[in-house]
Amino acid sequence: MITILAIESSCDETSAAVCHDGIILSNIIAGQKVHEQYGGVVPELASRAHMQNIVPVVDTALQTAKIKLSDIHAIAFTQSPGLIGSLLVGAQFAKSLALALDIPLIAVHHMQAHVLANLIDDPKPSFPFLCLTVSGGHTQIVLCESPMNMKVIGETIDDAAGEAFDKSAKLLGLPYPGGPLIDKYAKEGNPDRFKFPEPQIPGLNFSFSGVKTSILYFLQNAGKSTIYKEEFAATEEEKKDFIQNNLNDICASIQQRIISILLNKLKKATLQTGIKDICIAGGVSANSGLRQALKEAGEKYNWNTFIPAFQYCTDNAGMIAITGYYKYLSSNFADLSVSASARAEW
Ligand code: KG4
Ligand code: ZN
Repeated sequence: MITILAIESSCDETSAAVCHDGIILSNIIAGQKVHEQYGGVVPELASRAHMQNIVPVVDTALQTAKIKLSDIHAIAFTQSPGLIGSLLVGAQFAKSLALALDIPLIAVHHMQAHVLANLIDDPKPSFPFLCLTVSGGHTQIVLCESPMNMKVIGETIDDAAGEAFDKSAKLLGLPYPGGPLIDKYAKEGNPDRFKFPEPQIPGLNFSFSGVKTSILYFLQNAGKSTIYKEEFAATEEEKKDFIQNNLNDICASIQQRIISILLNKLKKATLQTGIKDICIAGGVSANSGLRQALKEAGEKYNWNTFIPAFQYCTDNAGMIAITGYYKYLSSNFADLSVSASARAEW
């Protein structure tokens, strides 16, 4: 019987979860609205909000799980990667609590945890599986041999998929984070209306910066041409009207292109590895178009597909807790000298 309290604070969500023998009993997430007006996460404001949120979020996670501090066997926390000030709040809290309760500490890599979110609910994938991990900072294809043994076989050479969504949304004048809004408008739009180019990147790597630039040019000429030229440059007024009158179709077309880039590489990875159990993870796996496209690809190519529940796609402590559980089973503990780190190999 193992009960783990987990803490996630790598970016702009303060989250705490309780896991009992691999079952998530609670997963409390406090978002931070303060960043919306700035068009992106402001690190200093994120750290301050984590400091305000962490005690009530942990309290609520324990109460929801009906667990007392004395019932906990270990504390897991996100050690890396992320915003250093944000990570430090969770790391210091976890270390202090582990010291006070005299129980082991488990340091978790955020990207490994996104992948293992697929082991929270049934049905679970069989090993080895492939996971397309798509978040605001990462885009990776991960070959997962066991919970503790995984390697990245493809990744983005520039922007992450979530960044492609968020930056496109910003160009459309939508607030941060724009990914969920593009998803919302895309539902009512025609994905074949506008064509954005698919980059030709060798192997299993991704690139999204070209798509972003083509969207920028396309909006600058208000849809008059797919090739940017000065003679097509639209006025600010024309641009605004064009976006307003075509928002759903633009969003659907952007979303379709991002999804096709992701799925084409995933298909290539399945052919190279012969692996048929395919998962997605990370914030962008909350995208309804991607979820649907993965299901359809699964039917077409005979894959077994797995998608975490919404609450385990974007940043959450449930995924830190399940990773902490597997680390506990393999006695993979950290000592109190461990520090948060903005970047780290895993
Ligand atoms: O995993 P996550 O919560 O944080 C990071 O570790 O980065 O991912 C956040 C990213 C943001 O770029 C956000 O716009 C994107 O996930 N995202 C979505 C959707 N929900 C979140 N992108 C597209 N469609 C969505 N429904
Ligand atoms: Zn994340």
